[in-house]
Amino acid sequence: MKPVKVGVLGLGTVGGGTVNVLKRNAQEISRRAGRDIIITRASARDLTRERICDTQGLSLSRDPYDIINDPEIEIVLELMGGTELAKELVLKAIANGKHIVTANKALIALHGNEIFAAAQKANVMVTYEAAVAGGIPIIKAIREGLSGNQINWLAGIINGTGNFILTEMRDKGRDFSDVLAEAQALGYAEADPTFDVEGIDAGHKLMILASIAFGIPLQFDQVFTEGITKITRADVEYAEELGYRIKHLGIARKTESGVELRVHPTLIPERRLIANVDGVMNAVLVQADAVGPTLYYGAGAGAEATASAVVADIVDVVRALSLNSESRVPYLGFQADAITDLAILPAEAIETAYYLRLTVEDKPGTLADITHILAKQNISIEALIQKEPNADETKLPIIMLTQKTIEKEMNAAIAAIENLASVTGQVTRIRLETLG
Ligand code: NDP
Ligand code: HSE
Repeated sequence: MKPVKVGVLGLGTVGGGTVNVLKRNAQEISRRAGRDIIITRASARDLTRERICDTQGLSLSRDPYDIINDPEIEIVLELMGGTELAKELVLKAIANGKHIVTANKALIALHGNEIFAAAQKANVMVTYEAAVAGGIPIIKAIREGLSGNQINWLAGIINGTGNFILTEMRDKGRDFSDVLAEAQALGYAEADPTFDVEGIDAGHKLMILASIAFGIPLQFDQVFTEGITKITRADVEYAEELGYRIKHLGIARKTESGVELRVHPTLIPERRLIANVDGVMNAVLVQADAVGPTLYYGAGAGAEATASAVVADIVDVVRALSLNSESRVPYLGFQADAITDLAILPAEAIETAYYLRLTVEDKPGTLADITHILAKQNISIEALIQKEPNADETKLPIIMLTQKTIEKEMNAAIAAIENLASVTGQVTRIRLETLG
């Protein structure tokens, strides 16, 4: 059989890694796919730049349209990033009858509904395993491996850069900006690294996971996101004193009133496996009705780890080339006409426990005022630490863990506490999940 010809848009970290893995493992991949797979063309902005891959035998172009308009190419790899040009190119490639493999979570989270509809019409595949949790085959696991289950919730460390930063800060006391610069040099970070540290990248990934877990449309604007930039060393230490780790989690939960979609720093009991996922590693915990909890772990970013997922998608596409669209795995795991628009809960309806840290005057009655406010909002305290003030200071930190409550009640309590004359500055609030 003739080899399948592939064109790549983007020859950076992921594109370069993909070229390397496809070349190095060509024989094994061909034995699995049933056809030889060769990358014949690639595009990048700067053709003089040094690449992490060997570009010999590749026809290079500055113009990505050269690739998507090449009649010889059957599969286009979109490994450029961004959402505007990438969307335009992907839709044009689909119209040209090309199958698409992408690592671009922003593209899928923002424009996936439109792209899948166009792909279905054109009878082509669009695969995106590398878009979520780097090399972990989590899309395949949820979409295919768990297809007999009702999924109740999932929670994941789904941004490698953020987890790398939190780990280095905790273990080595390094500076935030210093670790971020290293993550960028290692090729982990997004082109705009605020996407990593503000939870936007994790939000894109969470939206994709929630869509395939619950069969809901992609709707990134409904995801609540909070970043990691405000986490202090003191919070990390107090959390550990209480038996918790702080992780940047994406959580999707189906409740009776709707779906929670949220990304935020989270205290997790340190005995949970996921609390011990460090560095650039990612992990996704899925709670499903038949199998119970399952945990998926692996590298969340980096050239070859991500290439592993890209190449697996290429193999899937090659195996399914001769199938019609009804015989293929649906784009979001549910048949297109069975996607259900469940209500997405607003942030104020989130139900969770909380870690609170506040600075108060060291004088009688302060604690009573605070506990009174919490009681008024029906919030129960689970644990409380009151630190000794330094010798020359009159202010001291109080750290509290609360039981589960509704975010709206907590917002009201925090506003009232911050209004107390004995409380200085803002209350630090970090959500807490037991993941039991
Ligand atoms: P890089 O910045 O390393 O590579 C991007 C590539 O696309 C470069 O080769 C660049 O050209 C090319 N490119 C960018 N814009 C244009 C344009 N306007 N026209 C033509 N070519 C363009 O990014 P990554 O490889 O890190 O990321 C690519 C995608 O994969 C993104 O969607 C990212 O979110 C996703 N991803 C990244 C992971 C990672 O670990 N890095 C992991 C999982 C997903 P040039 O080299 O000349 O600048
Ligand atoms: N910037 C992303 C991360 C790349 O750090 O997780 C992988 O999606």
